[in-house]
Formats: sequence, C-alpha cells, structure tokens
Amino acid sequence: MKVLVIGSGGREHALCWALAKSSQVDEVFCAPGNAGIASVAKCVDIGVCDTDKLVDFAVANDISLVAVGPELPLCNGVADAFRAKNIPVFGPSGEAAQLEGSKDFAKEFMLRHGIPTARGASFSDASSARKYIEGEFASGANGIVVKADGLAAGKGVLVAETLSEALEFSDGCFGGAFGDSGSKVVIEEKLSGEEASLLALCDGNTIVPLVSSQDHKRIWDGDTGLNTGGMGAYSPAPVVTPKVEKRIREQILDPFLRGIQEEKLDFRGVIFVGLMIDKGMPKVLEFNVRFGDPEIQPVLRRFEGDWFEVLRLVACGRLADAKLVWSDEPAVSVVMAAGGYPGHYDKGDEIFGLDDAAAAGAVVFHAGTKLVDGKVVTAGGRVLGVSYRAKDIPSAIAGAYAAVGKISWKNVQYRKDIAQKALRPHEDI
Ligand code: AMP
Ligand code: GLY
Repeated sequence: MKVLVIGSGGREHALCWALAKSSQVDEVFCAPGNAGIASVAKCVDIGVCDTDKLVDFAVANDISLVAVGPELPLCNGVADAFRAKNIPVFGPSGEAAQLEGSKDFAKEFMLRHGIPTARGASFSDASSARKYIEGEFASGANGIVVKADGLAAGKGVLVAETLSEALEFSDGCFGGAFGDSGSKVVIEEKLSGEEASLLALCDGNTIVPLVSSQDHKRIWDGDTGLNTGGMGAYSPAPVVTPKVEKRIREQILDPFLRGIQEEKLDFRGVIFVGLMIDKGMPKVLEFNVRFGDPEIQPVLRRFEGDWFEVLRLVACGRLADAKLVWSDEPAVSVVMAAGGYPGHYDKGDEIFGLDDAAAAGAVVFHAGTKLVDGKVVTAGGRVLGVSYRAKDIPSAIAGAYAAVGKISWKNVQYRKDIAQKALRPHEDI
C-alpha cells in the first residue's frame, strides 16, 4: 500500500521512518519532505497548504492513507478535502482542528466539558483586555498569561511576570503583531508545576493515550531564554506517574471524547494535550491537533507494533482494534539547532558526521535540512533530532549526546541538559 505524509520536519521524518517499517507499506511519499526524509520516502514537491495539488496527487497515485503532520493544513481543512474523495486520512476535520487553531474555541470547549484548565477570559478589544489585566495584578496575581487567539507559530503566548509587559504584549496582539491571530486574546492565570505532553489517538469512538513524553521548550539549559518549538524530548516522563495518568484519563481524555461526540466534531487523529502538573494534579495548557515535535520522536523510538495499521485504524474509526506495543526502554531526542535560533539564523551550512552518529546507534531525524549538490545542508532553525533508545534514562542520555558529539556544522547549538529532569525523583501522589 502507498502512504502520503504531509510536512517537512522532524515529526514527519519520524512518521515516515515508522510507516516505512510496516510490512503492509510498499511506498511512502512525503510532501514536501527534507533531506533525511528522502532516505525513507519519496519526496514530492508540493507545499503543505496546496490542498488541491495534494488531493490530486493522492488520487493519481492510489494513496491508501494520508497522515497530516502540521496544524496549518489541518486548520485549513485538508482532511475534509481528502475525505471528500474517500481517501482515508489521519487528521481531524477543519472544524475540529479549531481546538488548536483558536485558543478561545479550546477554552470554551474545556469549560463546557469540565476539563481542568487555567482560569481565564477572552477579549476582542484592547481596552477591556487592559482592564482585566490591571484587575488581576491589583488583586495580587504574581503573573499572567496572554495568548493571541489564532495560530502564531509558537510565538503568540507570553507568560508575563509584570503588569507592563502583559499590557505591552496584549496591546501588540490587538495592534497586529500576529496578524488576524491577535484580533482576539485569551488571558489566563499563570499556573505553576511541571509541564508534560500527553499524546492520545482518537477516532471519535475511542481515545487511547500513547506513552508520555516531555519537551524542553526554552532555548537554554535550565529552561531559560526564549521559547522555541522544542529543544529536545524524552519518553516516558516520570512526572506522569500512574496516579497522574489515571487523573489525565478520567478528568481530561474521557471528557474530551464525550465532548467531541456531543458536539459532533470529526476527530480522527491525535490530540496532543499540553499539561501543567502541580502536586499530581493535571491541568490543560493547550490542545494541539497533531503530534508534538520533538515529542513524537522518542515516543516512536519506543513503538514496536505496525504504525501504518494503527494510523489506518484511526482513519477508519476502528481504533479499538489497534495494537499499541511499547518497549519499556526509554528514549531521548536532542534537537540540534542553527546558531541564533529562535531569532535570526544562517542557512546552507554543510552538516558533517551524520553517518558516524548513525553508526553510534542513534536515529537522526531531520527537521530543517536540504540536499544541495549531494551535500546535506542546514535549511531551518531546528535542524536535527538525534534520538537514542537504551536500557535506562542515563544510558539513553549518554548515547544521544555521544551521537550529537559526532555531528557538526558552523554555529551549531543545542541544550546540554535534555532529559536531566527525568532523573529527579517523582512521588506518585
Ligand atoms: P501554549 O501554546 O498555550 O501551550 O503556551 C506555550 C507555553 O506557554 C506553554 O508550553 C507553557 O510553557 C506556557 N504557558 C501557557 N499557558 C500557561 C499558563 N496558564 N501558566 C503557565 N504557563 C503557561
Ligand atoms: N514540541 C511542542 C510542539 O510540538 O508544539
């Protein structure tokens, strides 16, 4: 069978890598793909938002399953376009994708279905937002979170410590800093605790969590510096203890499933729940309607079943029949980024040592890379995800960093402390 994956990042490389291992899959296509994806799939030069061309390609090539990576095409309704041609697709409808596409929609959904989240409110004009922020600080809040409503490539959220930065960011949103995405703003209380990501497959009838994972969102060691798309991840996340997992299922996943059923949202894909866990109690920071990147990298390194079969069953509404088999071994993925990221960075620098890293036992997922004259060069901010699976977390960390040490290019940067948090004791409260 033939599969089409849409996207070009580390997530899509991990998806193509896992799909290509299925004995049912004859050929994997990826639109548009990248230099690393080209080693496991045939890259097709169609952009992720070129819906008509993607659908034409799928029809012409007898594609049996489409798996959509990023949120933008999902919010644009790409899954609906494939379904209109009876092509099975892993990805929610455009309407359901608003759970990620609009923070206001997601907040209202959580409130309607009793899902624990930060207290907050939505605003459509700058002056009522200002009044609310001032009121919160006046009543003793030690910070506040301001979120542009729509998609803003991870940049539309500020965790503000002071009144002035909160006001400035909120005014900026209404002033067009994020285009239409900032014409509405969600303002919420600042939660404390430890963050974790829980990805759950959902076909509208059943919801099944994947193994837990944790990202490292800030650019520098010790979770300092600017927010990024994610600088590394590991699985499992010990903060998701058995008791916490049970609460996530009962308080978040089950109400989520009931919610999409009641509201008749067509959700056949993955719901990625961004969590803040404080003293064992989980609250939802955000929903995403696609796999987390890099979270899916260590998660898929631990998957031991037939990934094509799992995604196909989700697309057909038969997730209950899927077999999810996981290794007990943990996995770690360290993101190597271009110097300057998440600000300005160079592109086009040749990458050395990829074969040596693979020979050392790592699987290197490519994010921003390109093949130029037979050489792999940098083509984005996050460039590679170097993943390693081993018998325990210290060995997985050591293996991942040994492989990272073999890779180089001009001005490469990466965090040195990925997965250290997993070594802290976590009480099952
Ligand atoms: P979001 O896109 O909503 O997940 O926000 C991006 C990041 O901002 C999250 O990963 C958190 O680190 C942080 N964040 C979002 N909402 C809150 C909140 N209510 N309290 C504390 N931190 C938050
Ligand atoms: N790693 C966070 C995300 O995929 O949004």
